[in-house]
Amino acid sequence: MKAVKIVKDVYWVGVKDWSKRIFDALIPLPEGTSYNAYLVVGSEKTALIDTVAPGFEEELEEKIGEIKGIEDIDYIVMNHAEPDHSGAIPYLLERNEKAFLIATEKGADMVKAYYNVPDGRIMVVRDGDEIPLGGKTLRFMEAPWLHWPETMFTYLIEDKILFPCDFFGAHLAGGFYDDDVPDLLTYAQRYFGEIMMPFSTMARKALHKLEGLEIEIIAPSHGPIYRNPGKIIEAYKKWSGGETREKVIIAYVSMWGANERMVRELAALLTAEGVDVKVHNLVNADIGEVAKDLVDSRVIVLGAPTVLGGAHPLAIYAAYLVKALRPPAKYAVILGSYGWHGRSRDSLLEVLKGSNMELLGSLEVRARPKKEDYEKLRQLASIIMEKVKGGVE
Ligand code: FEO
Repeated sequence: MKAVKIVKDVYWVGVKDWSKRIFDALIPLPEGTSYNAYLVVGSEKTALIDTVAPGFEEELEEKIGEIKGIEDIDYIVMNHAEPDHSGAIPYLLERNEKAFLIATEKGADMVKAYYNVPDGRIMVVRDGDEIPLGGKTLRFMEAPWLHWPETMFTYLIEDKILFPCDFFGAHLAGGFYDDDVPDLLTYAQRYFGEIMMPFSTMARKALHKLEGLEIEIIAPSHGPIYRNPGKIIEAYKKWSGGETREKVIIAYVSMWGANERMVRELAALLTAEGVDVKVHNLVNADIGEVAKDLVDSRVIVLGAPTVLGGAHPLAIYAAYLVKALRPPAKYAVILGSYGWHGRSRDSLLEVLKGSNMELLGSLEVRARPKKEDYEKLRQLASIIMEKVKGGVE
């Protein structure tokens, strides 16, 4: 793929990583991802906004080379220090001895730690600072903790383009503009759940900061470019604001069918009442889909058998993720099973401690659910329905 002109003198020079399948050794990437970098050519100066992941330096250089030589770059803007965007910085600085690396103060500290970039090559910017390129002006906006401490946005004033790096991103290699991917918001929601949800407070602050700013294009560093930025901004307002739906997520593991039976029954009871129920069997669940469904679910149900003296390790992992991702759901329900001593409920509660979620109820059955257990499941379903239909207080 070649460099792509977005508007006059602004080019996409990034990389499509079609075959990458796991990010941060944690997040599955069923459709790969992209590392978007942008070249802004002013009449006097040239800036590169973000770079690409290690291993793609030459591809980046080739694309830049269609427009300018690497030696013509005056500024390399580092909105975020994570290596998927900063990975080509050492390569670029080695081949261009004049370019300054632009970063926040925390970004400067990070880039020194990661790449030993000397102080003399770094230009620290603060919120609102501007750099003129000649007919193009870059303004820097501090936007910390999205999702690292040093993150910032860059705004190209004349063209009204926002470069927010990870914020508003989506992990997929396909599509170039938002209208190329009809279900883009589904990918964006998944990305929000995986990366931004734990930082919802900071996301709301950033969105507040963007109010009043004229934005015609949002050019993130993962996924398609938004030529219709309103839809992703509105979605981020909902997700970061904790707006949930009449939706329940059930994440469970079953060894000999007891939890499977309970989950099927509970899901059927809730679905019959019009609730959107998403069920994830943790044996083969896509953790990214779990994260996506956590973004707007109102109640979280975890189900696990007792094994090795506690809840099944897959459920422990899921509970840990639920706690770490800090979804907006305020209510949890735990299902469990055991052969001789039930410990799954307590070990899951131990993991969830500190998550501020209220336990609506639990049911642990021995061996398999009996008639009386199905009655208890109906009671649990009623309690869940009250909260789901009642909205979030
Ligand atoms: Fe896309 Fe936080 O790096």
